[in-house]
Amino acid sequence: MTEAQAQKKIQALIDDLDYHNELYYQKDSPEISDYEFDQRLEKLIALENEFPQFKYPHSPSQRVGGTITKNFETVKHKHPMLSLGNTYSKEELIDWDNRVKKGLGTDQLAYFCELKFDGVALSLWYQNGELVRAVTRGDGTQGDDITANARTIRSIPLKIKQQVPEMFEVRGEAFFPKHEFERVNLERKEEGKDLLANPRNAASGTLKMQDSSLVAHRKLDCYLYNLIEEGHPQSTCHSQSIGLLEKWGFHVSSTYRKCRNIDEVLDYIQEWEIKRHDLPSDTDGVVIKVDDLNQQNELGFTAKSPRWAIAYKYQAESATTRLETVTFQVGRTGSVTPVANLSPVLIAGTTVKRASLHNANEIERLDLHEGDMVFVEKGGEIIPKITGVDETARAQNSKKIEYITHCPECSSELIRQEGEANHYCLNAEGCPPQILGRIEHFIQRKAMDIDSLGSETIRGLLQRNKIQHFSDLYQLTFEDLNGLSFESFSEKKGEVSIRSLREKSAKNIIDAIETSKLVPFERVLFALGIRYVGQTVAEKLARHFKSIDALAKANFENLIAVDEIGDRIAESVLAFFAETQNQEAISMLRKAGVQFLISEEEGVTGTTLEGKSFVISGVFEQFSRDELKDTIKAHGGKVVSSISTKLDYLLAGDDMGPAKKEKALKLEITIISERDFIQMIAD
Ligand code: IVH
Repeated sequence: MTEAQAQKKIQALIDDLDYHNELYYQKDSPEISDYEFDQRLEKLIALENEFPQFKYPHSPSQRVGGTITKNFETVKHKHPMLSLGNTYSKEELIDWDNRVKKGLGTDQLAYFCELKFDGVALSLWYQNGELVRAVTRGDGTQGDDITANARTIRSIPLKIKQQVPEMFEVRGEAFFPKHEFERVNLERKEEGKDLLANPRNAASGTLKMQDSSLVAHRKLDCYLYNLIEEGHPQSTCHSQSIGLLEKWGFHVSSTYRKCRNIDEVLDYIQEWEIKRHDLPSDTDGVVIKVDDLNQQNELGFTAKSPRWAIAYKYQAESATTRLETVTFQVGRTGSVTPVANLSPVLIAGTTVKRASLHNANEIERLDLHEGDMVFVEKGGEIIPKITGVDETARAQNSKKIEYITHCPECSSELIRQEGEANHYCLNAEGCPPQILGRIEHFIQRKAMDIDSLGSETIRGLLQRNKIQHFSDLYQLTFEDLNGLSFESFSEKKGEVSIRSLREKSAKNIIDAIETSKLVPFERVLFALGIRYVGQTVAEKLARHFKSIDALAKANFENLIAVDEIGDRIAESVLAFFAETQNQEAISMLRKAGVQFLISEEEGVTGTTLEGKSFVISGVFEQFSRDELKDTIKAHGGKVVSSISTKLDYLLAGDDMGPAKKEKALKLEITIISERDFIQMIAD
């Protein structure tokens, strides 16, 4: 590739990624999957590494982080970042409305309502349209310069495409989206790390991390709600500023509303009390602002907060209820989690019946007794938690909750290793939820992506002895699945029914199993379900050792020499490869054609298709056309556009053009289907 071609390609990729970023964050209507986005981003990074002269500061690749900040510089805010007056009562809000009208000497005014996002306030500075500085609120007069970390937040524009003032400040709230928070905690649980307490604190902690690549991994988001224009402002009211922010590509939450009077404000408050729980960010109230900027100036500030705005806070979302029983759940790694079963109670619009108790320490910390009245809170997490016990309401002779000594599923004795918070059932091969859990883990999207299978069918396959382990999946035939009938238990109805698998599902499952043979090694490694080897650790190990054989041969020293791999992970990897069962499973997967080698840096996974040329025509079930192109290239083949005598294969999907088919037949070109193709690369 020439320099000029590279520059053009880099610019095209940047524009493409910016476009999809905007669809995702601003329009909330993504056209491509996260996976596809990451693939394109990797392409860009590879090109930029080859042609570093075209690595622009505003490139989306700059969001993956990598900067280490040892000490965050303290920066004074140009305009202080004030707090807001609070109220929990509608009467006080009406009083405030009266004070505003009195202060202005008129009732001709409009309010602008926004939700109060529960995150970390940020001040962002743009010079000539480029993000030059991001500072935390700090004490309101000065904060920390966290620019390197803020640059990893995909919804914060690094460069604004529209005509904008030479210099301006925007303010908003960085937050940990609820689903990302859950994802990170799940990953941490898999890796045996302590869980993050709640999204707000986690967002604040994340922005103060020294390594910005770790920040990037957490996928924070940021809503902007304030534009401070210097010199000659373009807007005369707050609603216009918000319009400008949207136009310039900032992520503005679309939940705002302009209200003509306090009654409309009260309607807004009521409307969002329940609905706000469906938003990606935690919210704890509504911020009401006088819309007109001149009127804002006229009202001014008290020592601490503006007179032109107020926060209405929703009541804290907790409740008291009775602890009925404590039950114990066994996970795929054999870890046992205690669960509190509660008398149903309504919190934040949903009925809560269960709360996780995490481990024995938590039961001890709460000093839980049978039948206790407990305080339950629905915090940032979707799963509610018990925050305390009302000891005054405890019956005199109530018994302390004891941790179980044996597995509730298979009766093996439970083990708790020194320094570990969790109890484990070690009967990995004989304990039903562990067997099922490992297969569920293996097939999930982030792993082998055979999720058309579903838990229900896995249960059926286990029940009918078609499989015992995930490595058996590759021996399944269409006949094994088609019409397979099994008993299924519906928790909702509380009854058992007979289900049978249709032809179409059977075909989909077989196809998905076949396609999973292309899943890259790092995801296969994650799929194996080695304790403490979550997605990130699997990627690190795969990149370092490059093959399953090298990893299996590694000793303790080799393992801990890898960045971020500690004693506990190393021991767990060693224990995994020492088990004959696991060795056998790996050997079966290898025979089936599962990837146990890392793909090369350029994305070439193999040479199966070396020297072969393909024409792609029609639509396909498993692959998009881009994916097909990439896969062919990754296997050493090439894609051409027209059919000639030199062509090796015509890859034919549904609705292929008849002219193409005719030409291929005439020139005696081999025509292959999508399934033939998958078979070809799997071989
Ligand atoms: S406007 C003069 N709008 O609440 C203060 N603040 O208590 C103007 N916050 O530090 C702030 N959502 O961190 C405003 N829609 C919103 C907000 C919001 C959350 C936070 C912000 C601020 C704190 C003030």
